[in-house]
Amino acid sequence: MILTDESVKAMKEAVGRYPKKKSAILPCLTIAHRQIGHLNDDIYREIARAVNIPYVEIAEAATFYTFFPKQPVGKHHIQVCHNISCALVGADGLCSYLEEKLGIRKGETTPDKEFSLVSVECLGSCATAPMMQVGDDFYENLNRAKVDEILSELKEKT
Ligand code: FES
Repeated sequence: MILTDESVKAMKEAVGRYPKKKSAILPCLTIAHRQIGHLNDDIYREIARAVNIPYVEIAEAATFYTFFPKQPVGKHHIQVCHNISCALVGADGLCSYLEEKLGIRKGETTPDKEFSLVSVECLGSCATAPMMQVGDDFYENLNRAKVDEILSELKEKT
């Protein structure tokens, strides 16, 4: 059993807040993600059993959202949007800059497990492109100077 009793209890409470169980899938995934730090097939099955929602519905929701990593990631999970609005204003260059600053490639985690870097599809903040998400936070209208500032702040939190 991977999920704690506390997580299962929170999931059952989430299910009780909605007229349709299915509406609680994202809250349940969020609870599991906050406990474990990533999600995978075994965790989808546990959630499905805990709240009696079909496994496939849990898995299809989880695999759609990149903010639920599917393998262990560093303390700061950096997701750089590479979709059209962000791409048009330099997302690719920013991602390369982050690779250079962190000393890792996309899809990798720093050896000290502090930072993971991925490039992802649209995060819904196209008007403030280029942007990235770190954990739960959005960072928008990015440029290299802002990236430097953000990395310094994140390093202070380590
Ligand atoms: S294209 Fe980057 S947030 Fe939408």
